Amino acid sequence: MKHPFTLLASLLIFNMLMATRVSLSRSVPTLLKRAPYPHFAPKRLPKSHPCPLWSSSFTFCLTLRKPITTSPSFSRACSSSPSSISATQMAASAAVDEALSANPLLQDFDFPPFDVVHASHVRPGIRALLKKLESDLEELERTVEPTWPKLVVPLEKIVDRLSVVWGVVNHLKAVKDSSELRSAIEEVQPEKVKFSLRLGQSKPIYNAFKAIQDSPDWKTLSEAQKRIVESQIKEAVLSGVALEDDKRENFNKIEQELERLSQKFGENVLDATKKFEKLITDKNEIDGFPATALGLAAQTAVSKGHENATAEDGPWIITLDGPSFLSVMQHARNRSLREEIYRAYVTRASSGDLDNTAIIDSILKLRLEKAKLLNYNNYAEVSMATKMATVEKAEELLEKLRSASWKAGVQDMEDLKNFSKSQDVPEADDLNHWDISFWSERLRESKFDINEEELRPYFSLPKVMDGLFSLANKLFGIDIEPADGLAPVWNNDVRFYRVKDSSGAPIAYFYFDPYTRPSEKRGGAWMDEVLARSRVLSRDGTSPRLPVAHMVCNQSPPVGEKPSLMTFREVETVFHEFGHALQHMLTKQDEGLVAGIRGVEWDAVELPSQFMENWCYHRDTLMSIAKHYETGETLPEEVYLKLLAARTFRAGSLSLRQIRFASVDLKLHTDYIPGGSETIYDVDRRVSERTQVIPPLPEDRFLCGFSHIFGGGYAAGYYSYKWAEVLSADAFSAFEDAGLDNSQAVKETGHKFRETILALGGGKAPLEVFVEFRGREPSPEPLLRHNGLLPVPASA
Ligand SMILES: *[C@@H]1O[C@H](CO)[C@@H](O)[C@H](O)[C@H]1NC(C)=O
Ligand SMILES: *[C@@H]1O[C@H](CO)[C@@H](O)[C@H](O)[C@H]1NC(C)=O
Ligand SMILES: *[C@@H]1O[C@H](CO)[C@@H](O)[C@H](O)[C@H]1NC(C)=O
Ligand SMILES: [Zn+2]
Repeated sequence: MKHPFTLLASLLIFNMLMATRVSLSRSVPTLLKRAPYPHFAPKRLPKSHPCPLWSSSFTFCLTLRKPITTSPSFSRACSSSPSSISATQMAASAAVDEALSANPLLQDFDFPPFDVVHASHVRPGIRALLKKLESDLEELERTVEPTWPKLVVPLEKIVDRLSVVWGVVNHLKAVKDSSELRSAIEEVQPEKVKFSLRLGQSKPIYNAFKAIQDSPDWKTLSEAQKRIVESQIKEAVLSGVALEDDKRENFNKIEQELERLSQKFGENVLDATKKFEKLITDKNEIDGFPATALGLAAQTAVSKGHENATAEDGPWIITLDGPSFLSVMQHARNRSLREEIYRAYVTRASSGDLDNTAIIDSILKLRLEKAKLLNYNNYAEVSMATKMATVEKAEELLEKLRSASWKAGVQDMEDLKNFSKSQDVPEADDLNHWDISFWSERLRESKFDINEEELRPYFSLPKVMDGLFSLANKLFGIDIEPADGLAPVWNNDVRFYRVKDSSGAPIAYFYFDPYTRPSEKRGGAWMDEVLARSRVLSRDGTSPRLPVAHMVCNQSPPVGEKPSLMTFREVETVFHEFGHALQHMLTKQDEGLVAGIRGVEWDAVELPSQFMENWCYHRDTLMSIAKHYETGETLPEEVYLKLLAARTFRAGSLSLRQIRFASVDLKLHTDYIPGGSETIYDVDRRVSERTQVIPPLPEDRFLCGFSHIFGGGYAAGYYSYKWAEVLSADAFSAFEDAGLDNSQAVKETGHKFRETILALGGGKAPLEVFVEFRGREPSPEPLLRHNGLLPVPASA
């Protein structure tokens, strides 16, 4: 592979485990890859944290969070109180009790027993847990009073226990998968979802939260406590709990129908994607493909019955799956092949049985109805009700970015024309959609000529981690030391670390699972919480329970004496995930429901992660970690400069593309009238006129495959990508303003960052947190500057 900065999106996976649980992940560049396991739309859970994860680079499609498949149950009958028990039942239940008392999932632990949990523990363990929590919930509903100890404390205990235990099995599925584990989890998952829904829609709990808000005690609550109450109420209201009976019935019907339609939308996209395949037997036809792409195409062929297919001799199969589609767009010299695949891609799921057009219209219609039932003007307002942005602010930001990116986008196109002309190709005067990625890649190669593989020896994992830890020390005054052996792990390569304050006191722990294990570990990199900081769940009765995080990567393992060597992209990824982990671990928030990454609005949650990525481009930081693993030689200056330059390559075009998606998403969820005079495609065309340098093909039906907003949880939320980029770039610019080379200033700014963004968790509104750190509201200027999209001042 020639270049480290492919046009590829980072595949970003959000994994909603439960109400207050977020898993943050970023994985290998892939388009439209299906999530390896179901992700739950969080909209009905008590506190939603859909986390959009993206990189500062181009993002086309994220892994989809599948909507909840279980119908919501509003009056779940409890099956756990048999009125009469026979003797045999009692004997049987004694045996079960014995087995249960040995079940590691049901034990009390400081750190989860990752080493002994087995697939066979999942069904009985989770079921027993749910039964217990169910009765705890009933007890809570019976005894609830509008006071902290009689409402939030027991509620947090329920939420936390489920989150922690479910987190253990879910984590094992991600890093130590087996068919037994998978089927056990699949079996109990619906039960767990059902419980989460029941919890989120409890009327007695909702009423108690309302009563707290109205009580004289309200004034005595801390800011974080108020945030908890408000967000619980908001989430409950948005899940229909507050509606009158007949409206609620209608609401539930709409919700179920929406769920069904989203599901159908996603299935159509998948089926349409699957339906297309192109067998290639003549290697000339895919001239230009790099070895990895040939390998992928051959592997696809093998999986489709061409058992003898090889990368070298074929046959090869091209599909509309992201990686396959992209390898054609970026590398196939055969222009008509590119055109054929492009046209197939942008018309997926737009005709015949798999046509999503009517489904989209129904979805938009029902979302509008839902919004009206909840007393909002449109669905975008519903979506924004739980986010940092407002509709106006998001629109305003998109317009600012659009106007700043337009000229650069036009220039990018000119550059491509000029470059393709210099390569003497007939299409130079007539570049079309299917030429853009291809010529961009050629131009990138000619301009930067960075060989990803050749850079690896400069980035050995141990040095990168050392550099990252010393950066964290410099910025935030923390010490990170190995604590292997303190906590059980699931694989011998997993490391365990203790994070200490400047006083030497432990404040957090984290696991780091660095290497790829294709047979049992899913791809990509992610961060997840294991335990959140919490006063209520104190282990010793006095000090808060300390937060624990997961960091998972998929680096190539060391071979013999040779350490794991990373690409620059992988270095960025580790910094990114570590940023999430820092927010979780350095929190000073003792209210468990809003500690660390919990309770942070989803359009703000990528701030610390993308913030950390910026340091990879900081010369001193990068040079201190980029040492050749054998010779100790530092990364050559000219390579660093190329990395820096490549960062802004085609930034205008990439930005415009995201703005098109974000804008059409907002338009469809604000003023579009389903069934009115304009079609969804008209809206897209209108948006594209202002955001696309080459207008889309008249037959472009990309909306039919826009699973983020119709099959996942991103409706009126796609803007979040840009929103969070703005926040993180602006946060980093505080360090630039202070002077990146002024170590005292960096330290002071780092301290401030730690005390605000990293410390406050979800306990304070994210805008206030930002203002507290930055001294003003966010500005898009730093992002535009980092992207090279600000006009250079005339006088220097
Ligand atoms: C280019 O691709 C088209 C469409 O797949 C195919 O018909 C044609 O034979 C290819 N040309 C070459 C030179 O391989
Ligand atoms: C694959 O190769 C084996 C051994 O040469 C042969 O028997 C088999 O028929 C081949 N399969 C296909 C699908 O060509
Ligand atoms: C066009 O390309 C040529 C050679 O590829 C280069 O020297 C020239 O500067 C380019 N012109 C513009 C306007 O980019
Ligand atoms: Zn992230």
